[in-house]
Amino acid sequence: MPASIVILTGAGVSAESGVDTFRDTGGIWSRYDYRKVATPEGFAADPALVHDFYNQRRSGLVKIAPNAAHYALARLEAGHPGRLTLVTQNIDDLHERAGSKNLIHMHGELTKAICVRCGSRHEWHGDLSTEVPCPACAEAGGLRPDVVWFGEMPYHMERIYEALGDCDLFLAIGTSGSVYPAAQFVQEASRAGAHTVELNLEPSETFGDFDEAIHGPASRVVPDYVEKLLKGK
Ligand code: OAD
Repeated sequence: MPASIVILTGAGVSAESGVDTFRDTGGIWSRYDYRKVATPEGFAADPALVHDFYNQRRSGLVKIAPNAAHYALARLEAGHPGRLTLVTQNIDDLHERAGSKNLIHMHGELTKAICVRCGSRHEWHGDLSTEVPCPACAEAGGLRPDVVWFGEMPYHMERIYEALGDCDLFLAIGTSGSVYPAAQFVQEASRAGAHTVELNLEPSETFGDFDEAIHGPASRVVPDYVEKLLKGK
C-alpha cells in the first residue's frame, strides 16, 4: 500500500447518485450559460437567477444519497495506515455523508453561504435570496453561495499542493480534466514521483498524462480498485 494517497474527484463520482455532470451530453453547461450562473459578473448582473440555480441544487441534496464509489473512498481512508487526502471539485455533500474525513472542497460547498459585505461564512440548508439578511452583519443582499466561480481562486490550494508534493499514489475519479488548476494535479503528482491512475467512464481529456487508466462507471471501478488496494495487490 502506498504511504501517501491523493484523490481528486469530479462530477462523475456523483453521477450515479443522480447529480448531473457538466460537460456530458445533456450536462449542466449545455442547459445553462456558465457566464450567467457561475461567474461574479453573472451574479452582479442577475443575483436572483444565480440564487435560483444554486437553490435548486441545494434543495436537491435531500433527494440524493452517496453511491458505492463514495462509500469505497471512505472505506479506503478508514483502512489506510498512511495519509489520504480527498480533494473534490464537487459542491455536493456526498463524500462527507459517506464518511470521508480528510476532505477538501476546492470549489466550495452548496451547504455554505458567504457574505460579501462582512466576509462571514454560514452553514446554509435553505434557499438564498437577495432579501435574506446575513446572520452576522444583518445586511440583506450580501449573501452568496460559498462556491468558487469561474475567474475565482479555488480554495485550499496551499494544502492541496502540499499533499500532491508528497504523494505516492494519485487517483483522478470522474473528472473530465478540462478545468484548471485541477486538471494539472496529475502532472504535479507525477513530478513528486507518484503512480497516477485515472478512473473515469471514458478516457478524459488528460488521460494520456496518467500512468494507468481504468474506464467504467465509478460505482463499479472505484470499489474494485479500492478492494485491491486494501488487500495490498
Ligand atoms: P465534467 O462534467 O466536466 O466531467 C465529468 C466526467 O465524469 C466526464 O469525464 C465523464 O466521462 C465522467 N463520468 C460521467 N459519468 C460517470 C460515471 N458514472 N462514472 C465515472 N465517470 C463518469 O465535470 P468535472 O470534471 O467535475 O466547476 O468539472 C470540473 C468543474 O467544471 C466543476 O467543478 C465545475 C465545472 O464547471 C465550477 O462550477 C467552478
